[in-house]
Amino acid sequence: MTVVLVTGGSRGIGAAAAVALAADGWDVAIGYRSRDDEAAKVVKAVEDLGRRAIAVQADVAEPEEIERLFDAVTDGLGPIGALINNAGVISPSGRVDEYDAARLENVFRINAISAFLVAGAAVRRMSTKYGGDGGVIVNVSSRAAVLGSAGEYVDYAASKAAVDALTIGLANEVAKEGIRVLGVRPGLIETDIHEPGRLDRLGTTPPLGRPGRPEEVAELITFLASDRSSYMTGTTLDVSGGR
Ligand SMILES: NC(=O)c1ccc[n+]([C@@H]2O[C@H](COP(=O)([O-])OP(=O)(O)OC[C@H]3O[C@@H](n4cnc5c(N)ncnc54)[C@H](OP(=O)(O)O)[C@@H]3O)[C@@H](O)[C@H]2O)c1
Repeated sequence: MTVVLVTGGSRGIGAAAAVALAADGWDVAIGYRSRDDEAAKVVKAVEDLGRRAIAVQADVAEPEEIERLFDAVTDGLGPIGALINNAGVISPSGRVDEYDAARLENVFRINAISAFLVAGAAVRRMSTKYGGDGGVIVNVSSRAAVLGSAGEYVDYAASKAAVDALTIGLANEVAKEGIRVLGVRPGLIETDIHEPGRLDRLGTTPPLGRPGRPEEVAELITFLASDRSSYMTGTTLDVSGGR
């Protein structure tokens, strides 16, 4: 089981996870939506570590693209042994009384519905019930799921709460089929996902007094994907500087 798929692997937390997983011995497939240049950089970084890598453009908001993504990964690198279910977006800042249906559909479609569909596609390939060899799914949630993100994006927080429920429920469904399902809840991490100025405004508010680096989340993801976490499933861990 040496092949891992990282969705949203072209930038930020996913890119850092791809490199950390390669350093831990995985061959790495990354999925991304549009940034070919950034995806190519991650592929090179993985190859520089002596592992195989491919990048597959696929919009996980489109269900048929998810199947194409998994098929391309299997064709390119072989059967997957782990999924890092990481692709996600945040909404513009605003209060609940300002949201419209289109905004809600967008954030739930990408963060919640696609997370379910991507996890399901991984189960159909890794579960012993389907003839697979088992594996690990790591869902990337957010501390927002617990904090609620009042005044910023309660919809994003709720979409990540759905991911936390997915982690618990799916873990119980597939525990006897060779698959462990785990989650990480990052706090404020230095990536391009934030609106301009947000990290400057909030960066020192965590008890540790600084934002986190993508590599610090990647370290936890890599541990959870490995056999070093072999007696863990159905739980989600915070990596948030105490926030
Ligand atoms: N940064 C934080 O503070 C923070 C905190 C808590 C949780 N998180 C979560 O961590 C995950 C990664 O966030 P990040 O900060 O690393 O974000 P980021 O830097 O904005 O990167 C997002 C990644 O997801 C991909 N992506 C976005 N929408 C996609 C779609 N529809 N289909 C396929 N790929 C898509 C992007 O591809 P392209 O490069 O092609 O655009 C990119 O690789 C997200 O789930 C986010 O909610 C982040």
